[in-house]
Amino acid sequence: MSEQENKKIIFSGIQPTGTFTLGNYIGAVSHWGKLQDEYNCIYSIVDMHAITVRQDPVKLRQHTLEAYALIMACGVDPKKSIAFIQSHVRTHAELNWILACSTQFGELSRMTQFKDKSAKHPDDINAGLFTYPVLMAADILAYKADLVPVGVDQKQHLELARNVAQRFNSKYGELFTVPDAYIPKVGAKVMSLQDPEKKMSKSDENPNACIYILDEPDVIIRKFKRAVTDSDSVVRYAEDKPGISNLMSIYSVITGKDYASIEREFDGKGYGDFKLAVGEAVADHLKPVRDEFARLMADKAYLKECYTAGAQAALNISRKTVAKAYRKVGFVDSM
Ligand code: TYM
Repeated sequence: MSEQENKKIIFSGIQPTGTFTLGNYIGAVSHWGKLQDEYNCIYSIVDMHAITVRQDPVKLRQHTLEAYALIMACGVDPKKSIAFIQSHVRTHAELNWILACSTQFGELSRMTQFKDKSAKHPDDINAGLFTYPVLMAADILAYKADLVPVGVDQKQHLELARNVAQRFNSKYGELFTVPDAYIPKVGAKVMSLQDPEKKMSKSDENPNACIYILDEPDVIIRKFKRAVTDSDSVVRYAEDKPGISNLMSIYSVITGKDYASIEREFDGKGYGDFKLAVGEAVADHLKPVRDEFARLMADKAYLKECYTAGAQAALNISRKTVAKAYRKVGFVDSM
């Protein structure tokens, strides 16, 4: 990352809980590479967040490496950005504690993701799941990030990070930058292909509901062909046509075409033609990602070199912020 003072700072993260979905890609990761020239970008594979739900340790290790290779395959260049694995950088856990003491039980109780996840895992409503957004605030605030590119589902967590930053600053004096969400205009919430009222999610039990970015082209096309649509057969973006509107937003992001030109392109054609076109466009678009991912996974030494350098660079920045936070709350200097 070029250390240019005048560039704004971007931070974002993704959990290594399996292959990314098309939602992760369109809502967040596909933007990460594009932001690298204009901003100082810092990206993390947030393995500490992942263990808030039960993980198989062997799989978590594998998924973490894969996620690191995947963000690179999607365009993150570790020479232009800082790209690292969260658990490699101790400052995240350190700042997490400081910020937890400036976060209210009530505000964490209102987090919809906590409510959803506790309903899904009633036998493991652990404290980490509850305080998850505090660690996310620590991720962002440790680097004094100005902007955080995320999908819509993370907006509430980002609001909390802003509140925590403001509260700390007013209690102890200015330290943290209050970050803004950077949410794409189209594709910030990609919906399930089987239930367009629900977000596309890795954990969906129906395999046809979700496109994984490493799916083979024929699998991608088949899933789009099976996508749930509504009863009329006009390709038009409308609130009462959530299935077709979801497919249109995917097609629009992938091809760069706006809704009016998509409507013209499929005027007089049926849903079958449209779904096939979306499937083919997505499959073609993801092919280079799949190829680059395979190339990177075959070179573990290179991956290690990248994530080791990334962690060092991340530590160098964040330890300064954490040292200042320690001073501000009244801890005695250790060295
Ligand atoms: P995670 O791992 O669930 O998702 C990673 C990113 O993908 C976006 N996303 C979607 N966007 C559009 N449509 C969808 N269906 C969809 N599903 C997921 C998410 O909004 C996210 O941007 N808490 C975060 C990880 C995190 C983080 C951070 C993010 C930890 N620390 C600091 C930003 C800054 C999460 O669980 O994302």
